[in-house]
Amino acid sequence: MYLVLLTNMAASGTTMDYAGLFDPEWYLKTFLSSIPDQHIEGDLMQFYMDKYCKIFQPGEVKGRQLLDIGTGPSVHSIISASRHVDDVYLSDFAAQNRKLLNDWWKSDKTLIENVTAYVLKQEKSSETVVERQTAMKGKVRAVLPIDVTLSNPLGSGSDITQFDIITSSLCLEAAALTIDQYRTNAANVASLLKVGGHFILNGVLEQTWYQVGEYKFGSVWLSREDIESTFVSCGFDIKQFDVLKTDDEVYSDFHVFFAMHAVKVREM
Ligand SMILES: C[S@@+](CC[C@H](N)C(=O)[O-])C[C@H]1O[C@@H](n2cnc3c(N)ncnc32)[C@H](O)[C@@H]1O
Repeated sequence: MYLVLLTNMAASGTTMDYAGLFDPEWYLKTFLSSIPDQHIEGDLMQFYMDKYCKIFQPGEVKGRQLLDIGTGPSVHSIISASRHVDDVYLSDFAAQNRKLLNDWWKSDKTLIENVTAYVLKQEKSSETVVERQTAMKGKVRAVLPIDVTLSNPLGSGSDITQFDIITSSLCLEAAALTIDQYRTNAANVASLLKVGGHFILNGVLEQTWYQVGEYKFGSVWLSREDIESTFVSCGFDIKQFDVLKTDDEVYSDFHVFFAMHAVKVREM
């Protein structure tokens, strides 16, 4: 009860208007322009990129079709992952993010160059940023509209009903203000994964808001136990759950970020 009250109070003065108020350029410039020298939000990106490398580099996590959920204006979640699948589907709720992703996909433009260079270094790859991003674009099949609050999040936008791998970064908690909504979001996206499929989820704990441009977006306060119990009840075996504490955040109020690797062992 106390927690619900706190969550509601913190959420006041925040928005969930992703379609109208989320500024992709500000988000990219502020959170994704530099790694790791610029310690934005407590080295969040460095932590996430290291986890992606660790999960995908051994080559055991692989499949035909990967869906990235709530891709936003960035493609960092597929830098490592795209090498281990045939087809990549990006997705987002906000049309302005999908436009930015489509502009990247259908042109010679590069995005998040410093983050890509960091991943290549971690992988000990001899590829250039342009070569890796060209290879990533070659795997992308579509940029899909998605709403994780719906029981069929992709609607009629995709012929594929279940994917081999799902990645998602900082989306499920951003699309919820209550733990019940978070659980519903998790169940909705879990339905898009095959039994035996891998779910790689990056997020933050104990966050009630984060800033993009002039606006504060609301987010549900979550503990590690909230997330683990949610995914276990959605039919997952949690293989790995890593956390890192930070006090450096400026544009949000989280104190811990996490990376989870789970395998779906049964339908709900
Ligand atoms: C904090 S951003 C994360 C973007 C990117 N994945 C990252 O890691 O930086 C949250 C993203 O979730 C998307 N989003 C918000 N509500 C959503 C919903 N109901 N369904 C799907 N995506 C949603 C937003 O449009 C935004 O791109």
